[in-house]
Amino acid sequence: MLLCCGEKKRIAVFVSGKGSNFSALLLRQKLGLLKGKIVLCVSDNPHAFALDIAKKNKIETNVLSDPSNADEIISLLDKHNIFLVVLAGYIKMIPSKVVEHYKRRIVNIHPALLPSFGGKGFYGIRVHEAVIKAGVKETGVTVHFVDEIYDHGPVIMQSKIKVKPKDTPQTLQKRVLKVEHSIYWKAINKVLSEKGC
Ligand code: GRF
Repeated sequence: MLLCCGEKKRIAVFVSGKGSNFSALLLRQKLGLLKGKIVLCVSDNPHAFALDIAKKNKIETNVLSDPSNADEIISLLDKHNIFLVVLAGYIKMIPSKVVEHYKRRIVNIHPALLPSFGGKGFYGIRVHEAVIKAGVKETGVTVHFVDEIYDHGPVIMQSKIKVKPKDTPQTLQKRVLKVEHSIYWKAINKVLSEKGC
C-alpha cells in the first residue's frame, strides 16, 4: 500500500462541528509548516461547518453513512492512502477495528489536561464548566493517540493554561481553543517526525 503523497504523508481530518482546529491546520499547511498533507475531511455530520471549510479549500470530503461501521472507515482511508488520522472536534467513537488498523496513527485534541476532565461526557463547554467547578488553578490542552477508550491513549503533547479567578467557562474555552490552534500542528509534526517522515 502506498502511504506517501510525494514526500508528505497523507492526512485525513475527522470533524463534527465548526472546524476551527481544522482551519488552523489548513493555515499551517498553507504556510508550509505542516509535515503532512491534508487530503481528506471526514464527518459524521452532513451539516458540519467544517465541511464547508474543506470545500472552500478544495479538500475532498466524505460524510460517513455509519460512523460505527469500521469497514466503511477503513476502506475510505485505504482508498485515499491515508497515513495519519487527525480528529478535530470529532464526537463519535472510532470503532476499535479502525483503532487497531491505524494503531498509533490516530490522534485527538482535548481541551483539558488529561487524564483530568476527560472521558465520556467531557466535551465542549462541559469540560470548562467542570474545570471551574473543581476550582483548579490550571487547565490546558492535550494531544494524544486514540485508543479504544475515550480521551485515554498515550499523550503526545500538553500545554498548560492558568485559570484566572474571574474566568467563566466561556472565557476559558476561548483561551484554551487559541492554544489548541497553536499546538495541534506541532504535535502532528512531532508524530510524523517520530515515524521518520
Ligand atoms: C475543540 O475544543 C477540541 O479540543 C475538541 O472539540 C473542539 C472542536 O472545536 N475535541 P473545533 O470544531 O475545532 O472548532
